[in-house]
Amino acid sequence: MMVFTKPFWIIALLVCLFPLLNINNNGEVMAFHKVQMKYQSLTTAKVNEVYRTGYHFQPKQNWINDPNAPMYYKGYYHLFYQYNPKGAVWGNIVWAHSVSKDMINWIPLEPAVVPSKPFDKYGCWSGSATILPGNKPVILYTGIVDLKPAPGYQVQNYAIPANYSDPLLREWIKPDDNPIVKPTSENVSSFRDPTTAWFNNGRWKMIVGSKNNHRGIAYLYRSRDFIKWTKAKHTLHDKPGTGMWECPDFYPVSTRGMYGVETSALEGGIKHVFKVSLDMTRFEYYTIGTYNPIKDKYYPDKNSVDGWAGLRYDYGNFYASKTFFDPIQNRRILWGWANESSTSLEDITKGWAGIQLIPRVVWLDPSGKQLLQWPIHELTRLRSDNVHLKSLQLNQGDVVQIERVTAAQADVEVTFTFSSLDKAETFDPEWNKLPLENLAMQICAIKGTRRGGLGPFGILTLASMKLEEFTPVFFRVFKTLDNKHKVLMCSDASTSSLNQNEYKPSFAGFVDVDLAEKKLSLRSLIDHSVVESFGEGGKTVITSRVYPTLAVGEGARLFLFNNGTEAVTVERLNAWSMKKPLFMN
Ligand code: FRU
Repeated sequence: MMVFTKPFWIIALLVCLFPLLNINNNGEVMAFHKVQMKYQSLTTAKVNEVYRTGYHFQPKQNWINDPNAPMYYKGYYHLFYQYNPKGAVWGNIVWAHSVSKDMINWIPLEPAVVPSKPFDKYGCWSGSATILPGNKPVILYTGIVDLKPAPGYQVQNYAIPANYSDPLLREWIKPDDNPIVKPTSENVSSFRDPTTAWFNNGRWKMIVGSKNNHRGIAYLYRSRDFIKWTKAKHTLHDKPGTGMWECPDFYPVSTRGMYGVETSALEGGIKHVFKVSLDMTRFEYYTIGTYNPIKDKYYPDKNSVDGWAGLRYDYGNFYASKTFFDPIQNRRILWGWANESSTSLEDITKGWAGIQLIPRVVWLDPSGKQLLQWPIHELTRLRSDNVHLKSLQLNQGDVVQIERVTAAQADVEVTFTFSSLDKAETFDPEWNKLPLENLAMQICAIKGTRRGGLGPFGILTLASMKLEEFTPVFFRVFKTLDNKHKVLMCSDASTSSLNQNEYKPSFAGFVDVDLAEKKLSLRSLIDHSVVESFGEGGKTVITSRVYPTLAVGEGARLFLFNNGTEAVTVERLNAWSMKKPLFMN
């Protein structure tokens, strides 16, 4: 164990005073995937491995985006995803396909759905799987039938397995009675991403994401036979001022525990979750509410914020997510895509872009106010060489290295305790005037790891030895004027790299936690260019994509730190070096 004292800390902070929010010059944070004609079919002869992940889902090469139609079938988990077979930027989109026994080791198969028919000539965009009675999977997806009006005229199609006895579902048929749903609104180019269907009162129901002016819309469709679909007169849900709703997801959660329930479930203590991916902000938000199967309407709970300031699965780089019910382990699993934060030109040079994050189990918090998430337990099979620490006090300015762990590819769990809340900083009332949807992120950008009272404390991930680069993941506790505590969790990329081109946001979220026990816990999955962090058992989750120049491979270090005047204790820490899966695409 190596302990740094104050001077080191101060030098590190000075060296790392980068611009707080650095949007890259190719505009990665943009509405919709920009078609970059001259780049979309460019490949590199050799993929650059430096920032490739060790244990996250990635194909060998090229661009990926949304996870599509995750499902379990006859012994295999299936994941399809949006893929450009020809280049490292978005374009030429097909449904790539991989299968797995454990969602950690993956075997790649041939793309399952590729443009070939008039109803998907210009693209096979996102969609979902539904398992029909008799264990018959069917895919619903968006087909692009014309490139005009941009980004394309959109219809909904279905595809079925050519051979149900093949557990790998290698071949898919797109019947000629497609498309099964055509847009009726004037927004023919904002009509996509059909959900998994659910069944009640004799009919299948599904939604398609859309917009009308700035109103986000989930159009509801019903069918008795899964082929002939009728649009309902009303929407399942819509909301003014939210813009295009991409990749909606709608599913039940149990009020009675962690276990997941099948998508059509209505009985036995059920609430519903409604999630959308916002094209305008490139963030997602969800509400918790009630579904009325007679009216076919979804009503968010009164205290569930329905809008840009709503709850997020992940307060960082996480988009186009989708859940599915795993009938084998009775859990609901969430998949999400993390885009790069590097420039398109860098992506082309490295020959790849985009990863799928570690699948997470998702369930309702006992409070009923939010969801909880945790990486699937199968991931722990990759852990090796445990490093364990307990009862370590961290005073203000302490930076302690965790040695004997491969810091560029690790899983770390740590619990911090403190003996008093007295030194919590005042929550500046001026901050209440900041836009609500990004309040936490703005406070993190203002405060960062600068000295505080109770916090900042946490870990420095992907750090260089002399702290020229580090991605801190930490808590800061504030006290509001009405004497309530507000816990901020940050995953701050602003100091992550000496490379000035990257997008280095100070991602953050608040943690809704009762501090009576004076304890806060953190788990981070660190994997070369991604840090996925779970605060307080999955109450607040933040993913950052970062590209250090010194803290790469063997050059990466992991530290604990406290820069608050209140001492904190590391009650226990467990860190593991992570192995690579045996098979990865
Ligand atoms: C979300 C999205 C979807 C669309 C797909 C195209 O990232 O824009 O709305 O179906 O990507 O690749």
